[in-house]
Amino acid sequence: MQAVRSRARTMPSTRFLSRLFFTSPSSPSFSSHSQSHLQFLFSSPSPVKLHASSLNSIRFSSPFLSSRRGVASSSSRMDASGHQIEASYIGQQAAKEIDEILMGPLGFSVDQLMELAGLSVAAAIAEVYKPSENRKVLVICGPGNNGGDGLVAARHLYHFGYQPVICYPKRSSSPLFSGLVTQLKSLEISFVSEEELPPLLSDEYDLVVDAMFGFSFRGTPREPFAYLIRAVSALTYANTQHKKETKVVSIDIPSGWDVELGDPAQEDSDVRGIRPHMLVSLTAPKLCAKKFTGPHHFLGGRFVPPAIVKQFNLKIPPYPGSSMCVRIGKPPSVDISAIRENYVSPELTESKVSADPFDQFKIWFDEALAAGLREPNALALSTVGKDGKPSSRIVLLKGFDKQGFVWYTNYGSRKARELSENPHASILFHWNELNREVRIEGTVTKVSEEESEKYFHSRPRGSQLGAIVSKQSTVLPDRSAIYNAYKELEQKYCNGTEIPKPEYWGGYRLTPTLFEFWQGQPSRLHDRLQYTLREVEGKQAWLIERLSP
Ligand SMILES: Cc1cc2nc3c(=O)[nH]c(=O)nc-3n(C[C@H](O)[C@H](O)[C@H](O)COP(=O)(O)O)c2cc1C
Repeated sequence: MQAVRSRARTMPSTRFLSRLFFTSPSSPSFSSHSQSHLQFLFSSPSPVKLHASSLNSIRFSSPFLSSRRGVASSSSRMDASGHQIEASYIGQQAAKEIDEILMGPLGFSVDQLMELAGLSVAAAIAEVYKPSENRKVLVICGPGNNGGDGLVAARHLYHFGYQPVICYPKRSSSPLFSGLVTQLKSLEISFVSEEELPPLLSDEYDLVVDAMFGFSFRGTPREPFAYLIRAVSALTYANTQHKKETKVVSIDIPSGWDVELGDPAQEDSDVRGIRPHMLVSLTAPKLCAKKFTGPHHFLGGRFVPPAIVKQFNLKIPPYPGSSMCVRIGKPPSVDISAIRENYVSPELTESKVSADPFDQFKIWFDEALAAGLREPNALALSTVGKDGKPSSRIVLLKGFDKQGFVWYTNYGSRKARELSENPHASILFHWNELNREVRIEGTVTKVSEEESEKYFHSRPRGSQLGAIVSKQSTVLPDRSAIYNAYKELEQKYCNGTEIPKPEYWGGYRLTPTLFEFWQGQPSRLHDRLQYTLREVEGKQAWLIERLSP
């Protein structure tokens, strides 16, 4: 996200430019260019030419771009399901060219790319470091676009519930950057100078975001950044000696690193690179990222179009769902016994809950829906057959009212057999994001044929066919057996005629005799309110009791 943006639009003056970018005589990209060449590069709205009109078959050429095939080198890892996920690494020149194409023929503005980059960084941080445990975040911003990405990330972090503080010693006066500063100040986010920082950053901050230098930087960092890099790297080299660990997140390039070679750290060297706990690579990981050894490597910048992927031979792992970031590199090895959450929730008291557990369930279910949880209607159904051995599986709730809770399944399945042997069952909802669990126990009966018919025909045709071909819970010879049966059936009903519900498919209704509403609380002092059906003066009534957590 750096090269052209920083050079073209964000540097306040050529003098500043040269101070920042021409410090190394070995810089092949700029040291040999004259200033007029630079001006041309900057002022030209579109330094690259588009050869084809279709984005999918787009090819680029430019007087400044080498025609590169196979610029990216890849490395791979396995995803959770054992599939190979490949990510490619790019050099400084390719990163620069990609930025030029994005902001040339592809019509992106620097503001847009910066916003998306900063959002990706904040999203990756939020995925790993909870604001409840990492509230105070120091964001150290450099003078170029890496610093801008940091400013944007800080704004998003604020909205995600963190408390960012900014150290931005060499500010750009361009409207984009002063706008970002104004936005942060309007959120009452503090700016501190390097002198105001504590000698040990871990004394005040839970996280440090290193947004000092990006991929366009070459040479030796000058003050105050040399000092700031030392202060941040002191954290990353000496963390284990401190009681409190302050984690460092680097944006795209750990500051002080060579973009291609990685950490220049040497024991006797004055300038030691930062060893971040998290690296958020943008667009595609740069070559130096191969040297990253921390536990969390993410990719952000979900805007790379297929044309660039093709041109630069990139391998970008698929982003999950609507996420702005994707984990690359090995997932961290985790000590399972150390995974723990401290739940903080509103109190659940006898006076607050509804006297009727069905009404209380509706309140909580509506809240789970409103919270946007994925499949809040998923429930664990436990059954016990005549052998007395319990079994559990997930099914989807398809309706509930005062009569009970309904799901649909195959009447020849294991659960169906167990229910025919023993109609007592338990269902359980877990709404993790709300720190809530609901247990319901009762007796199970089949719903009416009309009810099952009506629901069956409301399902997508593919699901109807799937229900016919699946003899649920029976052993199949191989995967293709069921697919072939499905294809045949699909052919049979391709004219759109009604698909008859098989008699072995239908619904069950659990009529509750017990509910328990569980709300997680700090120090494991959770609220548990249990409703049981009792007879009071010849009438059935729900008794509410508090259970020990
Ligand atoms: C999210 C999710 C939803 C499911 N929904 C249903 C469902 O509504 N009905 C069903 O029969 N199986 C459903 N299943 C599959 C069951 O968990 C289970 O594999 C299947 O019912 C066979 O279970 P059994 O052999 O114990 O009878 C679902 C699985 C998941 C993970």
